[in-house]
Amino acid sequence: MLEQKPSLIHRCQLKTNEQVTGTWHCLKLHAPDLCGARPGQFVHVRVGASSDPLLRRPFSIHHVVAEKNEIWLLVRSVGAGTELLLQARPGAVLDLLGPLGNGFPVVDEAAPALLAGGGIGLAPLYYLAWLRRQAGLPFELLIGAASCSDLPADDYFAAQDLHPLYATEDGSHGYRGLITGLLEQRLREGTPPARIHACGPLPMLAGVVELGRRFAVPTHVSLESHLACGVGACLGCAFPFKKGGQIEYRRICKEGPVFNGEEVCFEI
Ligand SMILES: Cc1cc2nc3c(=O)[nH]c(=O)nc-3n(C[C@H](O)[C@H](O)[C@H](O)COP(=O)(O)OP(=O)(O)OC[C@H]3O[C@@H](n4cnc5c(N)ncnc54)[C@H](O)[C@@H]3O)c2cc1C
Ligand code: FES
Repeated sequence: MLEQKPSLIHRCQLKTNEQVTGTWHCLKLHAPDLCGARPGQFVHVRVGASSDPLLRRPFSIHHVVAEKNEIWLLVRSVGAGTELLLQARPGAVLDLLGPLGNGFPVVDEAAPALLAGGGIGLAPLYYLAWLRRQAGLPFELLIGAASCSDLPADDYFAAQDLHPLYATEDGSHGYRGLITGLLEQRLREGTPPARIHACGPLPMLAGVVELGRRFAVPTHVSLESHLACGVGACLGCAFPFKKGGQIEYRRICKEGPVFNGEEVCFEI
């Protein structure tokens, strides 16, 4: 008998949609079938009821509260699609495709993992940090932003027993400068980590990989790009990677979004 694959399409009721800071909102959804998602995986969301915009928009699993059958998305408004999604009110039913992608490895090692989230890149690392906390695995969570007004308040993290180190470019909270500066400081002064996990803009990820190389620490980076199908069919998200002296293209939505930092070709 043919085994039926579970459907990846889920109709999920929005429970709350609350502003976290500036243009960032946290959406909590009733999504029992998505509670097994791994940190770093994402859902591809239909942002409106009409065909405009036609394409779904990808969002990382920001947190899972399994006992409430709840997943959270952290959404920053940057354009028409995210603006429309953030207009959804509690009770609305959203169409989610997922969980998609590979996710970050959660490795049981005595040495800590350093988790570095730049801007909205903190979305998947929040859940990764929480899972590591639950499993008793050591980690440090580093968060970077231009200014403290671009960051969720400390309680947003403390509520999950997370206590990040902050880097702000204007020095308004924590380390003054880029998150890569703070990461370098931790690599010099902290317990040598087993690995670095990072999510954020490409220049930041390139800097993280460079630091990983200098300090001989493996890096795992979550890449972002515009996605169309989200399931590996259209090749619209192909990104260059280095493989045995050659360049090969891999799909961010299917082989990623998390990749070995050493293999990512940031130069192209
Ligand atoms: C795997 C994955 C996970 C993601 N997780 C999150 C998340 O947890 N929270 C979140 O807020 N966003 C996340 N994003 C980014 C999010 O999908 C985009 O911001 C969103 O699709 C923009 O839609 P829009 O219609 O509002 O903007 P558009 O009108 O499509 O674009 C508005 C502006 O944003 C830029 N832009 C749009 N998408 C991206 C992108 N992926 N990378 C860089 N620039 C972009 C455009 O170039 C344009 O300048 C993720 C993306 C990927 C690929
Ligand atoms: S978005 Fe279609 S292959 Fe990745």
